[in-house]
Amino acid sequence: MDLLPQLDRASFDLILLVWVLLCVISAAAMHFAGMMPISNREQRSGLLILGDIDKKTGWIILETPVLVTVVFCYLAGVQASGSDINGSVVFVAAFFVHYFHRALIYPYRLKVKGKRMPVLIMLFAMSFYIINGYIIGYYFGAFKAYDSSWLADPRFGLGLAMFVIGMAINIHSDNILINLRKPDETEYKLPRGGFFRWVSCPNYFGEMLEWIGFAIMSWSIVGLVFAIWIALPLMAQALNAHRWYQKHFGDQYPPERKAIIPFVL
Ligand SMILES: NC(=O)c1ccc[n+]([C@@H]2O[C@H](COP(=O)([O-])OP(=O)(O)OC[C@H]3O[C@@H](n4cnc5c(N)ncnc54)[C@H](OP(=O)(O)O)[C@@H]3O)[C@@H](O)[C@H]2O)c1
Repeated sequence: MDLLPQLDRASFDLILLVWVLLCVISAAAMHFAGMMPISNREQRSGLLILGDIDKKTGWIILETPVLVTVVFCYLAGVQASGSDINGSVVFVAAFFVHYFHRALIYPYRLKVKGKRMPVLIMLFAMSFYIINGYIIGYYFGAFKAYDSSWLADPRFGLGLAMFVIGMAINIHSDNILINLRKPDETEYKLPRGGFFRWVSCPNYFGEMLEWIGFAIMSWSIVGLVFAIWIALPLMAQALNAHRWYQKHFGDQYPPERKAIIPFVL
């Protein structure tokens, strides 16, 4: 029995195209509406039609299903292709490690006492991650095989270095933000140090670098699509957060600091 309905490559590519178009639309909407959907910096009363949920719990619920989805869809893809598990498992493992941290380690460290997340945002984000888990898992299982020679390819080495450095910048910057607050504090402070010297949202910069690295190390269309899905919404949110910092801290805010890409944006 098939684990999932089999898809031919042309249908899969059509799904990827529609998915990228949706990304462009949603990033543009975030940009023009000035939205930071996960942040508590501003009131989001319009998003509360389904109520809200404790922020840590919301993070865990929205991020955990992708862990199961990506593994299940990878195995379904391998079954559909009639091949064996091959080097493509490296990319599914890299994806899994990132989301294991995001779903099951990061939320426990947050200092967000009393903060809430709209259930609507949680469900949107969860659907987004489930679809991406499907796309990544099924593609690497069904359509792309790698042998050990790929490990010696410069694209793999360069992409892996970007992935690891990006993850280090992301976690280090998130740590700086977490450490700005004492356990019961909830207000926003002016972050300094690390990549905050150059940008307002270095955690987003690190995340972007990570997934661009993933696209390069896997040299795959699906890696490119996922990098776009991460980069465009994060750029839109970073520009909004940057404007918020400048307004909130006024003259105290370092004027040379960019929003997300050092010296550029
Ligand atoms: N946002 C997205 O769409 C998205 C997409 C993909 C990946 N991610 C990743 O998920 C992680 C969290 O994303 P996020 O959008 O929640 O990041 P964020 O807005 O930078 O917030 C991260 C945490 O730090 C706190 N914080 C932010 N600025 C602060 C300040 N100036 N002073 C004190 N505390 C501050 C936030 O508190 P509050 O909770 O009180 O706001 C939140 O708990 C990042 O690593 C990001 O790369 C996010």
